[in-house]
Amino acid sequence: MISSFSVLLLYNSLVQSEDIQENIIHDEPVYKVHTNDDNQLEEANERIKLLESKLIELESRLPRTNAFPEIKFRNYKDKKRILVTGGAGFVGSHLVDTLMMDGHQVFVVDNYFTGSKRNIEQWIGHENFEMVHHDIVNPLYMELDEIYHLASPASPPHYMYNPVKTIKTNTVGTVNMLGLAKRTKAKILIASTSEVYGDPEVHPQPESYWGNVNPIGPRACYDEGKRVAETLAYAYNKQSGVEVRVARIFNTYGPRMHANDGRVVSNFVIQALENKPITIYGSGEQTRSFQYVSDLVQGLVTLMASDYTLPVNIGNPEERSIKTFASLIRDMVGSASEIVHKPEVEDDPQRRRPDISTAKKELGWQPKVPIEKGLAKTIEYFRRELSRTDNSEKHNGDAFEYVL
Ligand SMILES: NC(=O)c1ccc[n+]([C@@H]2O[C@H](COP(=O)([O-])OP(=O)(O)OC[C@H]3O[C@@H](n4cnc5c(N)ncnc54)[C@H](O)[C@@H]3O)[C@@H](O)[C@H]2O)c1
Repeated sequence: MISSFSVLLLYNSLVQSEDIQENIIHDEPVYKVHTNDDNQLEEANERIKLLESKLIELESRLPRTNAFPEIKFRNYKDKKRILVTGGAGFVGSHLVDTLMMDGHQVFVVDNYFTGSKRNIEQWIGHENFEMVHHDIVNPLYMELDEIYHLASPASPPHYMYNPVKTIKTNTVGTVNMLGLAKRTKAKILIASTSEVYGDPEVHPQPESYWGNVNPIGPRACYDEGKRVAETLAYAYNKQSGVEVRVARIFNTYGPRMHANDGRVVSNFVIQALENKPITIYGSGEQTRSFQYVSDLVQGLVTLMASDYTLPVNIGNPEERSIKTFASLIRDMVGSASEIVHKPEVEDDPQRRRPDISTAKKELGWQPKVPIEKGLAKTIEYFRRELSRTDNSEKHNGDAFEYVL
């Protein structure tokens, strides 16, 4: 039996558990019981010793809080409650890193259709972070200050996989998020896309261009879904005074992109790393302009903080042909891959380049990361991913590893 006195001592030893960590290597317990009864003393000391070692074992199983990067301190007055829908995806997870580092309370809502817990595992267990497994097609109730609405499949194979679901996510899902913004008086940023311009007849595309979209083509579920999402945003703004921001995002690349989603950069990098033929659909004369993901995140955060309500193009205007990208990536990887051509894809836009004068003028934003630097980080990421044998291996330990 342990006396109440020794229990008190044991309690003291537990509250001073930091000291225990240092002292556990000693054979003798750190805190001793003082009594004249030798048997009682021995029994109590044995119990304390046992509990001390149990405590150390339990502590070692807890997530190590000091493994989190140091984040900005904010008090309750300037700490915002921010929801990122699609926060487990490629862009969303980088945005989460930035908002967390800035000291906000961040909620991620994702159904993991294309997103992955691995993208945000670096924050799991942090007191400012919460992950909710939820499909935004269903209503959501939370108290918030800001919403970044990014949930939607974003690459052709993913959004064409279930076109009806893609339309529902961008229409019903967006109504749900706008309704949430209306109820909580939160500011909401809608992640729209350059695809609202379709196969454009105007180059580069300014926000005033209304686009050239085939409403019944294979990409329509996404293009028209995003166009309706924009329409809904301005309807809620006019009718209910919801504060909206609309970012028309152009092609973005970087670490945590999906390996198998058929996008130009990930396809070319993986083919080059595996020394397989690099496939170009069509002549390769069609152009693209790619922005690095940290530039995009900076653009989104700046837009949210601004007073500008109309749509804003966020992209990198540096335009290159697909052929040029293929050779650049092959050279940077140091690969022996040959470049092969396959038939053109239906409704594939021939030219795509943002006019970012609005972003420059209204937000003071423009992309900073040169393509060679961004590609080097992306190649390094995929090289590591391809060499991974253990699925549970962590890769995102440092949240800012990918910021350039
Ligand atoms: N990456 C680009 O180049 C690009 C270009 C233009 C626009 N965008 C837009 O940016 C946003 C993010 O794109 P991304 O590249 O990170 O794509 P992504 O596929 O990596 O991320 C989208 C996330 O949304 C989640 N999601 C999809 N449907 C959902 C649903 N019904 N409920 C809850 N979660 C759902 C997915 O699981 C995923 O985590 C998308 O809205 C996309 O349309 C991206």
